[in-house]
Amino acid sequence: MTTSTRTPTGELSATAARHLLLNMTPNGSLGQDGENLFVVQRGEGPYIWDGTGRRYIDGLSGLYCCQLGYSYAPEFAEAADKQLRELCFSPLWSASAHPTAIELSERLARIAPVDIEHTFFSGGGAEAVETAWKIARKYHALRGELGRTKAISRRGAYHGLTIGALSLTDDPGLREPYGPGAIETRFVSNTNRFGLVPEAPEFLDDDAYTAMLLAELEAAILAEGPETIAMLIAEPVQNRGGCITPPEGYWPGLRTLADRYGFLLVADEVITAFGRLGEWFGGDRYGARPDIVTVAKGITAGYAPMGATLVSSRVTEVINQPGAVLNHGYTFAGHPLSAAIALRSLEIMERDRILENVRGQQDHLAARMTSLADLPIVGDVRGAGFFYACELVGDLEGGGFSDTARADLVAGLIPRRLREAGLLARVYNRAAPLVQIAPPLISDRDLLDRIADILAETLDEASARL
Ligand SMILES: Cc1ncc(COP(=O)(O)O)c(C=O)c1O
Repeated sequence: MTTSTRTPTGELSATAARHLLLNMTPNGSLGQDGENLFVVQRGEGPYIWDGTGRRYIDGLSGLYCCQLGYSYAPEFAEAADKQLRELCFSPLWSASAHPTAIELSERLARIAPVDIEHTFFSGGGAEAVETAWKIARKYHALRGELGRTKAISRRGAYHGLTIGALSLTDDPGLREPYGPGAIETRFVSNTNRFGLVPEAPEFLDDDAYTAMLLAELEAAILAEGPETIAMLIAEPVQNRGGCITPPEGYWPGLRTLADRYGFLLVADEVITAFGRLGEWFGGDRYGARPDIVTVAKGITAGYAPMGATLVSSRVTEVINQPGAVLNHGYTFAGHPLSAAIALRSLEIMERDRILENVRGQQDHLAARMTSLADLPIVGDVRGAGFFYACELVGDLEGGGFSDTARADLVAGLIPRRLREAGLLARVYNRAAPLVQIAPPLISDRDLLDRIADILAETLDEASARL
């Protein structure tokens, strides 16, 4: 997005270029006076507007946060105002707590997966993941299993960028130059079958594929030494690599292995919770019975920052034994403002039947997205609920992209056309290029159709240029 430095947005971009360090951004390459900076000015419903007044469908819900879109401000402002007047801040520290965090922890326990009763709050997803790791270590230590120092994660997974969470994130580019990881982690296959010898029967049949994945995992556990594994972390639907859904039986299989070898099973639901897959917790769709669940993003619908680590009774029975200190914490964990916003968001989601909206529309969205697979540039379409990705295939034998096609299409035409058509979607230009959507959960059928139409037009044009 190019903006003139004479416009108010241009001035903002120039100020940003001088003073603001953006996340995951080549900050020094934003052009003179930040001319390539996309300044988002305001939001309403499922739309955002840039500084030039152009409207876009927010096909990514912020960054998988804004479950409710942007029009609930009056209700959230009222909740925030009430909370700030009553108590602006108080930490959850040293046997002290405030009513709003207490109420929220009780509310979360009511909707959480089976056996989950307790919540440890934090500021965001990576902090929630680090908390899961420390609770897992503490749990094993209190049981006398101090040798459980390793984690298992899955290839291509993203679990955050703080030093601990980064160890569980499989992306050498992101680790550079911060390695070696703080947590010794073994990576095993994720559940993406696309591109893996598709004609082989074990990839086609769910039971056989699940058995193969679990056998690989079990072999990895045995190779590392089961007594060294503290936890396994996985997303119900893995975001990185493009909305990778699990085959039937996979999550129950993870539970069986966790029980067999005594490690804790962590479901990272930072993206998949709070309705994204049509359930409060995405793992519920797949029979997940995790020991620990990490959440963030949609917990407040993006109206305030918050992360949380939800912990099952089997774990709290150990870490809450008399005298054991949970020596972990964040000053702003469970901040009253964020807790009040999260509570209000859960209330609104129930009142306005947001999960029911996703459940009612998801088959239609699935059908629209699946039909994109007919386009030559689309190799695979994956996802569930309001969370979909198209994996793109290119001009080379075996589906890869030549450097020219990558530059022309994945880096050029596709993101440009999507923007021109008024859709914010995610275009990954990494190993396997992807186009991904995660629209606000308030989206109606017309909006979902509009998103699918824009994707179809754009990918059709790109196919013709292959
Ligand atoms: C699955 C998952 N876990 C953890 C994180 C880290 O969350 P945060 O950016 O809030 O630290 C993310 C962020 O996208 C995520 O997708």
